[in-house]
Amino acid sequence: MRPYLPQGREEELFEHAWRNQLPVLLKGPTGCGKTRFVEHMARRLGRPLYTVACHDDLTVSDLVGRHLIADGATRWVDGPLTRAVREGAICYLDEVVEARKDTTVVLHPLSDDRRILPIDRTGEVLRAPPEFMLVVSYNPGYQNLLKGMKPSTRQRFVALRFDYPEAAAEMRIVQQESGCDEALARQLVELAARLRRLKDHDLEETASTRLLIHTARLIGDGFPFLDACRAALIEPLSDDEETLEALMQLVALGHDPET
Ligand SMILES: Nc1ncnc2c1ncn2[C@@H]1O[C@H](COP(=O)(O)OP(=O)(O)OP(=O)(O)O)[C@@H](O)[C@H]1O
Ligand SMILES: [Mg+2]
Repeated sequence: MRPYLPQGREEELFEHAWRNQLPVLLKGPTGCGKTRFVEHMARRLGRPLYTVACHDDLTVSDLVGRHLIADGATRWVDGPLTRAVREGAICYLDEVVEARKDTTVVLHPLSDDRRILPIDRTGEVLRAPPEFMLVVSYNPGYQNLLKGMKPSTRQRFVALRFDYPEAAAEMRIVQQESGCDEALARQLVELAARLRRLKDHDLEETASTRLLIHTARLIGDGFPFLDACRAALIEPLSDDEETLEALMQLVALGHDPET
């Protein structure tokens, strides 16, 4: 079981949304706990979870289902969204803005008060049971004008904003997830705070909680501190030599050789 450490009232809000049949939009940077949170809430509410990682080729059929030909006969196979509706599950569409625009045709009637899923290919119209919930996530940091979410889509969702946890919580998360001691967790969280304050390096995204956990695992396994930071914390942030060296200097500055 993968535990989740709450950061605020997100569990309560999610539960109210679920009970009131409202879909939820999670916004936040990479590696801040969105996926972990949805897994946790599905478990807590006792609902199965279907997760779909959206990409720019994702079509309505990938979500809803398609006819497959086997042994000379065609057979309809439900996609994850359809299965989730039938089972009253939670369907989580990760990075929903990546999906093809025509997916709104199925997402809109499902995420407003109609709560229906029309399946064109079979002529079926499914009514979502009260237990069904649609959850989508997106990372505002990646968005450009072309890829923003349409207001008519956004305004169907209750929005929950995620960010990197505050220091004490992030330390507990790093310790819990990597098994490292408190001193190392503190050192990494303080380092992350310095990296996150940097504004002049045009990093697409800054150091996430996920990267801190990876770094702590390598160090905990006996890999030297600075090498672990380079490999797991700094290199994933950029490909630009100068930027990497500048970031490594920050790492070295804060390094306490005693830990
Ligand atoms: N509140 C938390 N409780 C427990 N673990 C957490 C928490 N927040 C982050 N983590 C840890 O950070 C890692 C990254 O979190 P997660 O995969 O949920 O991020 P994400 O927001 O879904 O990122 P992405 O947008 O890249 O998918 C998790 O594997 C988990 O170890
Ligand atoms: Mg995720």
